[in-house]
Amino acid sequence: MKPTTDTQPAQDAIAVLDFGSQYTQVIARRIRECSVYSKIYPFNTKVSQLKADGIKGIILSGGPSSVLSKSSPRPDAGVFKMGIPVLGICYGIQLMAHMLGGGKVAKSPQREFGHGTLTIHKDCPLFAGLPKSLRVWNSHGDRIDQLAKGFSPVASTENSSFAAIHDPKRNFYGLQFHPEVAHSELGIEVLRNFLVKICGCRDNWSMSGYIERKITEIREAVGKDRVILGLSGGVDSSVAAALIHKAIGRQLTCVFVDNGLCRLHEREQVQKLYGDHFDLDLRVARKSAVFLKKLKGVSDPERKRKIIGRTFVEVFDAEVKKLKARGNYRFLAQGTLYPDVIESVSIDGNPAALIKSHHNVGGLPKRMKLQLLEPLRELFKDEVRALGTELGLPREVVWRQPFPGPGLGVRMLGAVNRSGLDVLRRADAILHEEMMASDLYYKVWQSFCVFLPVKTVGVMGDERTYENVIALRIVESVDAMTADWARVPYEVLRTVSNRIINEVNGVNRVVLDISSKPPSTIEWE
Ligand code: XMP
Repeated sequence: MKPTTDTQPAQDAIAVLDFGSQYTQVIARRIRECSVYSKIYPFNTKVSQLKADGIKGIILSGGPSSVLSKSSPRPDAGVFKMGIPVLGICYGIQLMAHMLGGGKVAKSPQREFGHGTLTIHKDCPLFAGLPKSLRVWNSHGDRIDQLAKGFSPVASTENSSFAAIHDPKRNFYGLQFHPEVAHSELGIEVLRNFLVKICGCRDNWSMSGYIERKITEIREAVGKDRVILGLSGGVDSSVAAALIHKAIGRQLTCVFVDNGLCRLHEREQVQKLYGDHFDLDLRVARKSAVFLKKLKGVSDPERKRKIIGRTFVEVFDAEVKKLKARGNYRFLAQGTLYPDVIESVSIDGNPAALIKSHHNVGGLPKRMKLQLLEPLRELFKDEVRALGTELGLPREVVWRQPFPGPGLGVRMLGAVNRSGLDVLRRADAILHEEMMASDLYYKVWQSFCVFLPVKTVGVMGDERTYENVIALRIVESVDAMTADWARVPYEVLRTVSNRIINEVNGVNRVVLDISSKPPSTIEWE
């Protein structure tokens, strides 16, 4: 299946070559904040590719390697001969000193890490309009002892005379510090100078421009054919549906699979919002019996995930077949985001060329011969939210908390069954209501209930009870890679616990999960 919508942008673009820095994505984001389009490439991308993509400037990212190591990653040497500006950051500046002749990089006895004061000694377009002294943030091991031919120092820090360098003739620049991180004062202005003043990029990347461009592309790609999309009600598939719908209206068919593992009233909410409000051609496949039958007696988390994923594909496959009579369904639309498609690089020199696998639905079987339509594949999550807002999706959809593809299947621990899922659904709805009522829902990353496969003794009225336990999992996070349990006020927790035990039959105990990630994960399975 070939992507059909990842065509070249109609605006100026900057390439960020990725040498493995944890900040590579942050650089790309900052560039877009400057309204310039940016794309991350593996470090060893061929110059021919960059030329074909019409790149106007190159940023060499930081990275964990030392240029002194033979196996450290190197760019195609041709990037320095393209005649376009290059900015090396951290590892990138050291690459320039090492690769461009006459420079010398040495092991530093001490790693420079944390804040420093940058003093600018010389006029340089990179610092145009900025104060002569800036607080900057460093993180590097090696140091440059001698600059490559053509370069001269522009600014220094306490520990380095070569904190910023340039070669004005070739338009090459290097920064030992990280302008992209929030701790570097006016760092974004340094980047903006590079993009606009040095590379001459037009700062015309905007969400409304993006929508217009995508609508044209989708119409051209689809023509008179049809598109099918699995709508879960989550942010990504909802925004993809709204965008494609705006482009081709009822040539788009969305399928919501009710697998019995959804949250309370989820199907009705999706039907109401998209069927009524957006006039989407929405089909609902009511398949909870199929899913629950296949999951019967299965308690291993990985097996559960696999069964759910596989069954989803089967159901979707059957829906596509049913639709055949209506027209030519040539495209499968997905809400794949940019972080999902960035190729990861392994830093010992071999690009892993691995696309991060979506842990939702692993695509459809090849025999279905559908082409992929992925109109969000150039966007970061916060950009998708901005797009959703611009398309008129309500806040409840755009800012909804993440929900795993396998749904409550991985939140009811052990083997799932309908009655347990009902208990979990009702408990979860109460937690949701109280998080909303206390104005906390949008402040945390996720808040949900987990059904534990144990029973404990309690007393209600004068009667002994022997019932289930619900765990509350409420976490704060910025990207789900790490997370900490949220310090929710006791009063809110008390209300949630009281309400769950009083209102949900079958629960006599509520516990709070106070584990961080790592070493735990956000979901329990
Ligand atoms: P963990 O549990 O690994 O979860 O800390 C990290 C984030 O990913 C979500 N998650 C999933 N999302 N399909 C998804 O789309 C899945 O199979 C899946 N499993 C976990 C989880 O909710 C959290 O936000």
